[in-house]
Amino acid sequence: MPTIRVGLLGLGTVGSGVYKILTGNQESIASKVGANVEITRILVRDRLRNRSLPVDSAILTENAADIIENPEIDIVVEVMGGLEPTLDYVLTALKNGKSVVSANKDMVALYGRELFAAARESAVDFLFEGSVAGGIPIIRPLKVCLAANRIQEIMGIINGTTNYMLTKMTREGSDYQQVLAEAQQMGYAEADPSADVGGLDAARKLAILASIAFNTRVTLNDVYVEGIEKIGARDIAYASELGYIVKLLGIAKETPEGIEARVHPCFIPHHHPLAAVSDVFNAIFVRGDAVGETMFYGRGAGEMPTGSAVAGDILDAARNRLRGTCGINCTCYEQKMIRPVEQISSRYYIRLNVQDRPGVLASIAYAFGDKEVSLATVLQKHTRGEQAEIVLITHRVRELNLQDALKLVQQLSSVHAVSNVIRVEGE
Ligand code: NAP
Ligand code: HSE
Repeated sequence: MPTIRVGLLGLGTVGSGVYKILTGNQESIASKVGANVEITRILVRDRLRNRSLPVDSAILTENAADIIENPEIDIVVEVMGGLEPTLDYVLTALKNGKSVVSANKDMVALYGRELFAAARESAVDFLFEGSVAGGIPIIRPLKVCLAANRIQEIMGIINGTTNYMLTKMTREGSDYQQVLAEAQQMGYAEADPSADVGGLDAARKLAILASIAFNTRVTLNDVYVEGIEKIGARDIAYASELGYIVKLLGIAKETPEGIEARVHPCFIPHHHPLAAVSDVFNAIFVRGDAVGETMFYGRGAGEMPTGSAVAGDILDAARNRLRGTCGINCTCYEQKMIRPVEQISSRYYIRLNVQDRPGVLASIAYAFGDKEVSLATVLQKHTRGEQAEIVLITHRVRELNLQDALKLVQQLSSVHAVSNVIRVEGE
């Protein structure tokens, strides 16, 4: 049997998963591929550090050239993360004719164009299934199984940390800071949680998904991003009372005016398929013109789930190398406009802190009406002294009209604060 030689760049969480899968399932993988798939070198920062894996220390190296410039290595697996020096390493490996597998959403979301160009130049694979939603197959289903569709919409829970936090806030009524502290203690949220709670991690994944779904390059900078930092226990309670649940969603749509790509917290109806996706689980809801609605569900991170996606790509690249071919390269063959968020339309939940006196509601309703924002639901539950909390849900309006109306509302002397504004989606 021939041997396909693999070099790993990184042996952390994901690299360890890949190592365990390729060594643990060695025989069945060889049968499936028609070749032994062997890890021959591994790049780490510190080769003398104690590792829990039974790795032969002789294959560890601190010199990237041992892998990316090594003529014996067929496939380079980038699981070290970050942009520098990672991008250089990957581009060099591709230039040197190696197929590359990566789980690096930061890199793919910013440099997809350059990476694909380098892969095409060398007629090798650049595969990145693990970069979005960990173990859930979604890149290949979009590129292959759903390729005959015109994809109309993608809505995804693509960040496990924030889904865990929102699930806990919903179940226990606890507030944001308390849940974040617990998530950090449990090891679900990182010491610096900003990329997760601020929506950046989800935005990187959405940029990748939108590029594939709509066959046009969408980069991280094209995605509108809001995080969950402002979501309070009161918003979650109001959502529940009104028949919704709060989720951080990545939403990408194709419209006649261009591509919408945004990540922000949403109210979604209790009966929506994504409403049932709890804890650290991820799910991606896809609507295509032929397939209709379909949903992909599973673990969006972790050693073995992400290792599973990366190992699947390695097998794919190995088969292609044995046949002397490569698979689907870049699918961004169109150039579509990105629609600015001000032009989208949505329904909105708005929570206001106001003075509790006659005429206040009328003045607020007038300000919204003046900017053509029509109100569907009005709720006043909590009053304390001379203050009241008013909750509104609008009909579908343009974001720009909503923003103009909120400026007017904020100028009213009876309005102390616009406490929160959350889009209502999935109806
Ligand atoms: P990690 O645990 O921090 O591991 C990083 C590995 O890369 C370590 O082995 C480290 O060496 C090595 N490394 C980092 N910088 C290096 C450098 N400059 N030179 C040489 N070696 C270097 O990271 P991870 O969680 O496995 O994540 C890897 C990638 O997968 C990232 O792009 C991440 O976004 C992506 N990803 C992760 C998950 C997940 O669940 N963790 C899920 C999906 C995607 P040492 O061992 O010596 O420190
Ligand atoms: N930090 C991510 C999450 C996992 O919470 O889903 C890696 O992409």
